[in-house]
Amino acid sequence: MSGRVVSGKQMEEDAVAELSLRPKRLAEYIGQERVKDTLSIFIEAALARGEALDHMLLYGPPGLGKTTLASIIGAEMGVNVRMTSGPAIERPGDLVSILTNLKPGDVLFIDEIHRLSRIVEEVLYPAMEDFAVDIVLGKGPAARSMRLSLPRFTLVGATTRLALLTSPLRDRFGAVFRLEYYDDEAMQEIVTRSAGILGVPILDDGAAEIATRSRGTPRVANRLLKRARDYAEVRADGEIRREVANDAMELLDVDELGLDDVDRKIMLAIVEKFDGGPVGIDTLAAATSEESDTIMDVYEPYLIQLGFLRRTPRGRVITDRAYAHLGLEPPQAGDASQQPSLFEAN
Ligand code: ADE
Repeated sequence: MSGRVVSGKQMEEDAVAELSLRPKRLAEYIGQERVKDTLSIFIEAALARGEALDHMLLYGPPGLGKTTLASIIGAEMGVNVRMTSGPAIERPGDLVSILTNLKPGDVLFIDEIHRLSRIVEEVLYPAMEDFAVDIVLGKGPAARSMRLSLPRFTLVGATTRLALLTSPLRDRFGAVFRLEYYDDEAMQEIVTRSAGILGVPILDDGAAEIATRSRGTPRVANRLLKRARDYAEVRADGEIRREVANDAMELLDVDELGLDDVDRKIMLAIVEKFDGGPVGIDTLAAATSEESDTIMDVYEPYLIQLGFLRRTPRGRVITDRAYAHLGLEPPQAGDASQQPSLFEAN
């Protein structure tokens, strides 16, 4: 994404600032109204019954606030949140030790839950359903299995790819929430709120400019805001106005739709190397020197949302709208690759 060429110190400062910008309670959380409304009902009901909240699964593109929501769930329920991720839990024993250390009602947040290994996932099934884990004592013929009971806890899982979750795991969540890209209005509110916390002088038109270039993603907005602050302090009087924000975004190569050099590289590769597509994701990754997973998780969803890219069973296809944005002539009508497909792939 943009602004990737930054120093270690800068990244550290950004990470600290990012934490302070995250809303702590549901009332501070801007946007995702449906998710908030539903979640607040579940939370209120669980609190009224004095029970742990049911397991919740959050999915959607990165940077939309899945981790933030998990912390908020913990805060609203008045419990601790233990944070981990699918790839971090390497062995079943790692998960058993996390589970047995939870207190009643605690939230266990597993980010990238689709990346849990199968054997670790199998520990999770009885833990989620029966609040118990089966552990094996000893080895060989003398080995015995023992069931340990766990406190009632709430698993909050997060994933960017719902389709990669096995159905037994998916079925064990009491509710599944899909986070959507934020609209411009919510994004502007988020930029304004963040600027207030950071003490950055900003005008409405400056906040709007950053908002519309943030791909509907608060994490991107907060990063662009910090880069616009740097620019405003060095090249202007410190205040983020429309022109200042515009100039800063231009310097970062972020266009008016929030597309950066990687988005353009992906679209241009499809146009120039594959005649507009269709092209398979792995071929596209090789042609652009980007990871397939990064293209699928980070870049593609936003390009699809803009109507610049389509997924078809034969691969990715660029649309006329994308050609127009790139200032290129689309191929002649009748080109098979530009025909809409009845069978859009997942
Ligand atoms: N910062 C990041 N995401 C946010 C959100 N949804 N609401 C308020 N501030 C945020």
